[in-house]
Amino acid sequence: MNVPRILMCPPDHYSIEYEINAWMNRHRPADHRTSITQWNYLVETLKKAGATIELLPPQSGLPDLVFTANAGLIHHNRMILSRFRPHERRDEQPHVHQWFKQHGFSVTLLPDGLFFEGAGDALFCGDTLFAGYRMRSDARSHQIIGNMLACRVIPLELNDPYYYHLDTCFCPLADGVAMYFPGAFDDYGRRALQEAIPYLIEIPEIEARRFAANAVVVNQTVITNAGCPQLQRLLAQAGFVTRSSNLTEFVKAGGSAKCLTLRLDGEEAASWKQHPPAANIAVQPS
Ligand code: ARG
Repeated sequence: MNVPRILMCPPDHYSIEYEINAWMNRHRPADHRTSITQWNYLVETLKKAGATIELLPPQSGLPDLVFTANAGLIHHNRMILSRFRPHERRDEQPHVHQWFKQHGFSVTLLPDGLFFEGAGDALFCGDTLFAGYRMRSDARSHQIIGNMLACRVIPLELNDPYYYHLDTCFCPLADGVAMYFPGAFDDYGRRALQEAIPYLIEIPEIEARRFAANAVVVNQTVITNAGCPQLQRLLAQAGFVTRSSNLTEFVKAGGSAKCLTLRLDGEEAASWKQHPPAANIAVQPS
């Protein structure tokens, strides 16, 4: 089995410099030293679970670059680059673009004028791409991506400002298995998730507010922010090993474990991960 590869960006320049979601408040700064300690602990926890960590160099003036989940969407060696709705994050794109080009990915850009915030809003569960739209990403971007990757897309509207990216309220765990916070979705969204995913774990609201859904899955281990014991029990019943990593300083920016990571080899739940392209069929460059 291949070793899981995760892209992260050290929090050297991380801080709360602007307010682009309901969690952020410039008067509630992140403690720099604590951020570094918490980030390092997350790295160690991921490594113990079996992952290798690759680093995106931090850049001064780009405090949210730490949230690598928003860099883009990975599909085999293709990387669909994000285009951020908030202008505060748009200067991240050239750095991300360069890193992926240098690391052998074929980088695809969406047509101008469309917003798309990467793995924060687009998550594979089995063959299907679940895609959050309205608050950050455009539904049209997801349709284009679905055509490009020839996969089914289930659009999920996000309206609650505290659950502004899909990965704040939904997390695929394995093919046919996921967890979600029902209160973040409308009736259509809840029904769509229930119909598409046979084993769906409900996250209690108090823990959803602690970013319980924003978990990283490495093999059978699920790593969440601290303070999610009810969810951990449900995950254990479903056969997962659980780990916590205290991420208070990143919650102040509206992010937690998942947001701080980007799986370079495909998440466990993505069925395409199990079926690498045959050696003689090159993945189409952009
Ligand atoms: N402050 C960042 C923003 O609002 C947090 C991003 C969190 N990332 C995520 N994948 N949910 O864009």
